[in-house]
Amino acid sequence: MTAILVLHGPNLNLLGKREPEIYGRLTLAEIDRRLEVLGEELGCTVRSFQSNHEGALIDALHDAATWANGVVFNPAGYTHTSVALRDAVAAISLPVVEVHLSNPAAREEFRRRSLLSGVCAGTISGFGWRSYALALRALAEKAAEQQIGEGGK
Ligand code: DQA
Repeated sequence: MTAILVLHGPNLNLLGKREPEIYGRLTLAEIDRRLEVLGEELGCTVRSFQSNHEGALIDALHDAATWANGVVFNPAGYTHTSVALRDAVAAISLPVVEVHLSNPAAREEFRRRSLLSGVCAGTISGFGWRSYALALRALAEKAAEQQIGEGGK
């Protein structure tokens, strides 16, 4: 069975209360629950983890390499600053999809650069919680294709 880690970076524990006009009104628990339900529909196990600490996110990526088939990752503010998280994504041989609730390209200049995009399988931004859902679906479909030997892109 396909197993996916959904990884949330700093300040995302405050979703629902944090700048709702930008990030929406769903809490992190509500988003995780929706992804769990979607995972059941897609036939994959979804495990979620949030941390405000760079090292804990790195540990979670290393650990995912031992059990997951892919990672949906919102690095939040670390997107724009963290060489260490980029290196962690590059170090594991799992497809990682970078996601953002908002569209950073349409916001402040400093959000337009992602240190992680270059080592991720793809990026989905700007669709609120659906950015996570789209990434989960892409990873699940890709894994299913690989399991039946089509190896399609
Ligand atoms: C974010 C965008 C980042 O620029 C910001 O620092 C976040 C959330 C998003 O999901 O839109 O914390 O990753």
